[in-house]
Amino acid sequence: MSLSGKARLAGVAGWPVSHSRSPALHGHWLRRYRIDGAYVPLPVAPENFERALRALPLLGFRGCNVTVPHKEAALRLVDRASEEARRIGAVNTIVVEADGTLTGSNTDGYGFLENLTGAAPSWRADRGPAVMIGAGGAARAVLVALLDAGAPEVRVTNRSREKAEALADAFGDRVAVVDWSEREAALGQAALVVNTTSLGMTGQPPLELRLDDLPGDALVTDIVYAPLETALLAEARRRGNPVVDGLGMLLHQARPGFEAWFGVPPTVDGALRAAVLSA
Ligand code: ATR
Repeated sequence: MSLSGKARLAGVAGWPVSHSRSPALHGHWLRRYRIDGAYVPLPVAPENFERALRALPLLGFRGCNVTVPHKEAALRLVDRASEEARRIGAVNTIVVEADGTLTGSNTDGYGFLENLTGAAPSWRADRGPAVMIGAGGAARAVLVALLDAGAPEVRVTNRSREKAEALADAFGDRVAVVDWSEREAALGQAALVVNTTSLGMTGQPPLELRLDDLPGDALVTDIVYAPLETALLAEARRRGNPVVDGLGMLLHQARPGFEAWFGVPPTVDGALRAAVLSA
């Protein structure tokens, strides 16, 4: 629909931001719910991020998403941040309050869990140990989500071991560090395997992980969604393991922001998946 002078405004700040699928995602919902609003890409260089953020209320924006490389800076700059965002150490969603102050939250872990429980309703975090590949920014959100959802143990394995150890130091004794060279042995008795690295993404090296020791009923998921079926998911599917692709995490993490800015709780469905995939 066309915009009126009262259109509600939001966007995604990143650098670069041209690859972001968020404008297509929110644009689909705006059309579907016939909302007088716009969600735009905001290409903001790191040296301008603070000023750009401070300008949001001045320009009448309801808020924005924040993506690479601004998520950690956003946590420092908002007026208040949710407890989850502080534990993750990053903000991906900002709401401009009525008084012009900025509230930050992090919905990546929420999106991760909503994707799993939506696509694999019988899976529960407390069912058994999880194996997490990677210890970068995305891993922190996944780890906090799994611990909060009751995972009895999260085995973290990362090429650079010290980053996995830093997560164990930060998040306590349910986090076990597994050496990168031992990652396949860590799959024994696991109830979940999640790849949080960029390995397996189009243009990146593959994730080398033989699944021989993985129980047949363990759920396997990947935060990579291009390609939708990574080599990890294809191998898991071939063995008969349940699999959930990573696109749903992107779709679900967007829901809280959309509702806060545009006033409608949006639904994730096949039409949205198709719209984002074709973007
Ligand atoms: P993001 O915010 O997307 O998680 P990141 O913080 O740069 O990005 O983290 C990238 C993750 O992918 C890290 O766990 C990284 O491992 P290192 O900590 O050892 O760098 C992992 N990764 C990237 N390329 C890799 C490779 N070729 N082999 C193994 N791990 C890799």
